[in-house]
Amino acid sequence: MKKNIKPSYEKARRRTKEEVKVLTDKYIIDNNLSKLGLNKKYFIITYGCQANVRDSETIKAILEDMSFKECNDMEQANLILLNTCAIRENAHNKVFGMLGRIKHLKETKEDIITVLCGCMAQEESVVNEIENKLKWVDLVFGTHNIYNLPKLLSETINEKNQVIEVLSKEGDIIENLPVKRDNKYKAFVNIMYGCDKFCTYCIVPYTRGKQRSRKIEYILEEVKDLIKQGYKEVTLLGQNVNAYGKDIDNYYSMAELLNEVAKTGIERIRFVTSHPWDFTDEMIDVISKNDNIMPYFHLPVQSGSNKILKLMGRRYTKESYLDLFNRIKNKIPNASITTDIIVGFPGETEEDFKETLDIVEKCKYDGAYTFIYSPRENTPASKMEDNVTIEEKEKRLKQLNELVNSFYKENNDKLLNKVVKVLVEGISEKDNNICCGYTDTNKLVNVKCSKDNIGKIIDVKITEAKTWSLDGVINE
Ligand code: 5AD
Ligand code: SF4
Repeated sequence: MKKNIKPSYEKARRRTKEEVKVLTDKYIIDNNLSKLGLNKKYFIITYGCQANVRDSETIKAILEDMSFKECNDMEQANLILLNTCAIRENAHNKVFGMLGRIKHLKETKEDIITVLCGCMAQEESVVNEIENKLKWVDLVFGTHNIYNLPKLLSETINEKNQVIEVLSKEGDIIENLPVKRDNKYKAFVNIMYGCDKFCTYCIVPYTRGKQRSRKIEYILEEVKDLIKQGYKEVTLLGQNVNAYGKDIDNYYSMAELLNEVAKTGIERIRFVTSHPWDFTDEMIDVISKNDNIMPYFHLPVQSGSNKILKLMGRRYTKESYLDLFNRIKNKIPNASITTDIIVGFPGETEEDFKETLDIVEKCKYDGAYTFIYSPRENTPASKMEDNVTIEEKEKRLKQLNELVNSFYKENNDKLLNKVVKVLVEGISEKDNNICCGYTDTNKLVNVKCSKDNIGKIIDVKITEAKTWSLDGVINE
């Protein structure tokens, strides 16, 4: 029997100078493995961010290489996978709740294999709990060894023991993984993995390892291939995309990468997530000069208080953030900017919170994801003294949400009677004469048009602005 390999925070924190190799033959699937899933169905639930969504697209393709078929009903599945997120406590709770449901299902149907993967699998305490208390979970693997799924599944099925393989060290970049994309017109393209910023509240640098940029030739090849397949939009993905290339000596910068991707001629380019620290004027310049780089920016501010930003280890001040914000808006006037904000960070006083409200007032964000601070095991912030009550944190979140929401409508109103470009993605479930899609600034539009427009970028005249979406008609 194979010995379980479990994660270690100590190892995950270490950043080494070791060269990251690019491997193009690591993923292998031999004849035996390719038939393991014959007549079997899998069901996968993806929690969390786009990185996980993109990982699930690879997991699905690997399972289909093994002859498993996807199904949409958990009760029909032989294989259930949870691709998990560790960013906040409630993401955890959702997964443990779902595991409870699966346990019940397993009691009525014996041949179900349960797999837990993703960021929670990289957490020491989670894996210990699964090993000691949830022995019926069949397989646990992490974010660094997705390529090994065929072998791990085969061991799980053949040995009938719990198999755990979670690597703490990120290892190399694997370039021959397959993908089964969820969307026919928009695609996620990884440009880097991991994160070296170590913001004090964040678990990501531990669960996803050190920053590793993908080589530009593989990124461009993937984009060109997507164009051939009819894709209209790519989103370049990374935890901190603006630091692209910084982990390789004398390499392309994010600005240069954007420029090269723009040259491929793909119609729309987006990128997430930006850390304000690494956002350069050169990037703003490249974006303003290329019509196919969308004027949309996700620029997490986290807090408006300099004291809290320092405690968070964010490396910018309220003033320098506002300066960047204004430089973007001045050069790209139609830019839409969204953000992430955490309330109730340890030590956040009423005064600090007012600074956050103030920066929101100043930036009038097009969208904001707001969260109550959630202590994550082993992070520096989890050891900081926190004397703000949960009631107070909830009150602040409510107040912040009210302010944030008030700007959505104000920003949408500015588009009334204007003509915008919309990539039509699908048809409304409620009304067959209405299609939906997104503007270049990433706003949701319901357009009165036939389904023949799906997959096309069309000119739409906005007829009504609501808080969360816009209505429009084709501009003749
Ligand atoms: N508590 C609350 N929110 C968090 N985020 C990251 N870590 C935490 C945490 N421990 C938020 C940040 C980040 C977004 C993806 O999730 O705002 O930008
Ligand atoms: Fe987490 Fe900060 Fe890295 Fe974002 S930049 S993933 S918040 S450590």
